[in-house]
Amino acid sequence: MKPLTSLDRADRVKAKWLNFSGAVGRARREDGLPAASGQAARWIADVTFRPVSILRQIRLDRRLGVRTRGEPSGPANEPLDPEVIAAATYRDSIAYGPTPAHHFLRLLSSLPIAVAADFTFVDIGCGKGLTLLLASDHGFQPVIGVELDPRLVDIARDNVRTYLAEPPRHERVIDVVQHDAADYELPPGPTIAFMFNPFGESTLRDVVKNMERSLRRSPRPFYLAYYNPVHREVLDESPMLRRLSKNTRWALYEACTVVESDAPS
Ligand SMILES: C[S@@+](CC[C@H](N)C(=O)[O-])C[C@H]1O[C@@H](n2cnc3c(N)ncnc32)[C@H](O)[C@@H]1O
Repeated sequence: MKPLTSLDRADRVKAKWLNFSGAVGRARREDGLPAASGQAARWIADVTFRPVSILRQIRLDRRLGVRTRGEPSGPANEPLDPEVIAAATYRDSIAYGPTPAHHFLRLLSSLPIAVAADFTFVDIGCGKGLTLLLASDHGFQPVIGVELDPRLVDIARDNVRTYLAEPPRHERVIDVVQHDAADYELPPGPTIAFMFNPFGESTLRDVVKNMERSLRRSPRPFYLAYYNPVHREVLDESPMLRRLSKNTRWALYEACTVVESDAPS
């Protein structure tokens, strides 16, 4: 998919249409007509209720005292600096847009884990850090955000600082690291990794390879939630990830054990 950076308004509409028709077509090919209808209904609902979703986001920002949306008059999705995209391993970064908070909270509640505090939460492509604050509220400890764009890293760090300044959050740990996801090393220990369609297939393939290497080195409880899973087939192809569930918004995977002879070298 083309990054949104260089696109004007007409191109954005075209990109959205391609995203929509691609998702519906894929759902039809992979899961049949009912899944394709579900996907189309979801898009219509999203467009219809977009103003409500924006209002919720604004209220949440106000409540937390942070800024995770764009400029009030600007586009909902913020294009990245072309130079930032050009400096990445692959030029397939997607513009910043926050995950709708109510979807994210539903996703967190659906995770098959007993104690959130036993897991590190990592958002790969964390943008302004909204998910980091919500994941910390949910009990994950520590929480890590990985972000390519230094401008967004600064905003995310400001947001985290504001959020942690409020008692009783002082003891919590939230780190934002500036890094290209293509060569990011996952933290050790049980982990929940999250991605909101942050990049194209090339970066995603490297991310999955790094995950596999890390899991082979230290097998551990590991879940990966992929919101707006445009390149889901890359995860489906991994011998070390097993899909637990999927709906029209996200797909959830867990690490599975691979017998040594099956493991790619
Ligand atoms: C759709 S936004 C999601 C933001 C955040 N995860 C959320 O849900 O609120 C995708 C983010 O991924 C970041 N990104 C894109 N390519 C990246 C890369 N190669 N490494 C790290 N972050 C990247 C973008 O800068 C953007 O902030």
